[in-house]
This record gives sequence, structure tokens and C-alpha cells, in this order.
Amino acid sequence: MEKSHATIDKTKFNRWLNIRKTTLKELNLKLKNKLNYQITFGNCEKLDEYAISIISNCLDISITKITKHRSVPIFILKTKKEIDKTKRPIIKDGIHFYNYYTLPTPKGYVAPVLLDIMCPKEKLPKLNNGHLEPAITISMGPNDIYARFSEKLNKDSWVKFKINKDKKTNWVVGSSYYEPSFCKHSYSRATNGLGRIISYTTKSNIESLLNDKLSENSFKNLVKTNKGKNINRTLLKLEIESKGFSVKDLAKKAKLSIKKLNGYFNNTKYIIDKKHIIKICNIINSDPNLFLDKKQKEDKVGKLYFDFKESIKSIRKFKSYQVASIANSKRFPDLSGYFMKVSNKKKLFLNDLFDSKCSHYFVTGGKLKLHISSQEKKMSKNLEKGDCIWVSSFTYHGFTGQGSLLKISDGQNISYLDKEDLTNTYNINGVLNRVRGDMQNWGHDE
Ligand SMILES: [Fe+2]
Repeated sequence: MEKSHATIDKTKFNRWLNIRKTTLKELNLKLKNKLNYQITFGNCEKLDEYAISIISNCLDISITKITKHRSVPIFILKTKKEIDKTKRPIIKDGIHFYNYYTLPTPKGYVAPVLLDIMCPKEKLPKLNNGHLEPAITISMGPNDIYARFSEKLNKDSWVKFKINKDKKTNWVVGSSYYEPSFCKHSYSRATNGLGRIISYTTKSNIESLLNDKLSENSFKNLVKTNKGKNINRTLLKLEIESKGFSVKDLAKKAKLSIKKLNGYFNNTKYIIDKKHIIKICNIINSDPNLFLDKKQKEDKVGKLYFDFKESIKSIRKFKSYQVASIANSKRFPDLSGYFMKVSNKKKLFLNDLFDSKCSHYFVTGGKLKLHISSQEKKMSKNLEKGDCIWVSSFTYHGFTGQGSLLKISDGQNISYLDKEDLTNTYNINGVLNRVRGDMQNWGHDE
């Protein structure tokens, strides 16, 4: 029978003994009145709930730090039939507003959704309240819809969210946009027919910081400190002071007047040449890329709209496919994707795709074959319109047949912040070789 409780992961348990600078011997001594046996690396993966809880108490960590997690699958395939079973109607503003369908994702991930837009064209769709999670949304057809983004309607907040009707290029299905945190949005039909969207909503990287990591006091102070200011400049000022440098001294060293530097920190419109910021960062030995002002492409409601005509202009050959870009923003570099056309009737096992992100593929037309290889085996699966696959990062895969797909990737399997850490890690290949299953202790005598 499968165990209903969590199981200790030997490597994580060893790592936390190392972090706490303690030993199994010490731990057993501390627990001698609570357990009538000794914990060893040989038996730790078979312990009961009580033992796991007193070990985690003793190490002063939550049990999830030392227990096994469900391993992430290589891929998940859901057929159209299976996706259709997740359909649920949503009533909003007194009418049947949407049907939602969930696309496949690993357990615990934020999942993208497919929506039928049901609000009739005569009715102004009632806005939602927006959400913290950023998203890319694609108009999937078969008909145009309207998208609304604010109470007041203007060219940025009321758009016809169009579908490409040209048979030659309609594998580039429709328009798309990047939606930042808390951007309100809602949709209605633009015709008497059905319109659909894929809302590729992903995990917010600041969710845990803003909800859990900071105390109420710290959070309120962060809000107050940055009020009316640019966060990159506020964080630079704090970085300078956290490293024990005075802003006044640094201004002098960077050949700036203190008035100018304070103006830069306090006034969002005040500009100074980035060479001064780079100089300051070099003095305090911090990475200037974190603190430089960034230019973002976005409109008045914060979204970045990408018309399907722009997608068509971006059509290019990529490996054995033709692809065309969809909306994406530097504000959230992990969210990106492209339309794909597959035209390869050769009977072969093709693994020409390999990404540093996990991806969803939604089949938008035709009949395709997905090929995936893992260390254990090679697999091929037939795909039809409406099927969807999630593929983990660093997985060799490819498609043959005749058809088209929408591909969208996100950072839930490996994020750009993870990549930043990977590139900063000393002797990364040595670290990669050692880290999994590492049972070395921190250097004490056994
Ligand atoms: Fe949304």
C-alpha cells in the first residue's frame, strides 16, 4: 500500500544536518527520550510521521525541507476529449460568461486555461479585478472577440482581438498580448459565433516575497520607502547603505553632485547617465544590471499588444518548422512562445527541439506525431487538433506530420532567476556533478 504521509529524502536530510552544523549522533542524543531507536541514513527514508515531525522540529525547519517531492514528469499529454471533460461554465454579471477548460500541467503548477467567450456582442463585458500572475493571452478563434481592459473605453482599453482568416497563413491563429500583474481584463464576442482564448497565466515570482517572506513591518516599510519612486533606484540606494557606504561619498567618487544623486533616487523623472550608476556599482561590487533604469514596451493600461499581422511579418524558418512570434515582454522574460507549422511527412523519429524552459503545445490543426526521448526510452504519440502537451525543460522532443501548434513556455520548471543563479555559481559544472544525491557531511569525524 502507498504511504499516506511524506517520506524523508536522504540527501535533503543530510544537507540540513550540514546546514545546521550538527550530526546524526547529536540528533539521536537529542531525541533519545522521544524515540526508542537510532536514526540512520539507512532507515531515515522509512520513518513514520511522528519521527519525521520531531526531526524537523529538532532541525527547526518545516518538514517539506527534508521530505521527498513528487518528481516532475518528462511530459504530460491531454487529448481534446480529456480537456473537454474539464469544461465548467462561469456565471458573471448574471449571464453565462465563459466556459473554462484546464490544460495539462504538473501538480502544483499554475495552469493555463482555454476559454469559450460567451458574453454576447451587444453586452459590454464586465471587468474582472486582474490578478498578480502575469499572462500571455492568445485569440484562438474561430471568430474575433472584443477585449476590454478598463472602465473607460479607448483605443488601449477596448480592442477587437482578431483572428487571422487568410487560409495561407492561418496557422498564425490570431492576435496576442502580454498582461502584467493586476491588469483588469474581460472579453465578449464580436460576432454571433464562438470566440476562444488561451490564457497562459503563470506563477508570479514575487508572490511568496510579498505574501510570506517579509514581515508585516518590513512589507509596510518597503511600500513606504518606494512611494512615488522607481524600485530599481530605491533598491540601489539601499544596496549602497547595506554595504556600509555613504551616498554622499559615493556621489563624489562617481563625479556627481549629491544633489543630482539624491534627485535621481527621489524623483522618477530625474535622469543621470548610466555610466555613473555603473561606476557606483563597481565601487560597491554589485551587479549594475539589477539597478539600471529599464525601458519597457507597453501601452497606457500596461499590456503589450501584438497584432496577428505583426506575427505574420515575423514568420521564419526554425529547424524543421516554420514559426511566428507571439506577444512577450521583458518584464517577464520566462513567458514567451510562437506559432508553429509542421510539414514533414518523412517517417522518422525527430528530436530537434531542446529548450531551457518548460512548454505547452496546443495543437491548432492537422495531424501530428510528437517524439520525445528520455534516458529510459523513446516515445511517439499521435496528436490531433485540440490536444495539448506539457513538456519539461531540457527534454529532447520534436514533431512530424502535417499541422500546426501554439507553443508557450514559462518559468515554472526553471526561471530566469534560477538562470541568474546558475550563471553566478562558481564552478557550476562541479556543483552540477555533485549536488544530486550528495551524501558528504560538512567535514566532521563520523
Ligand atoms: Fe486572467
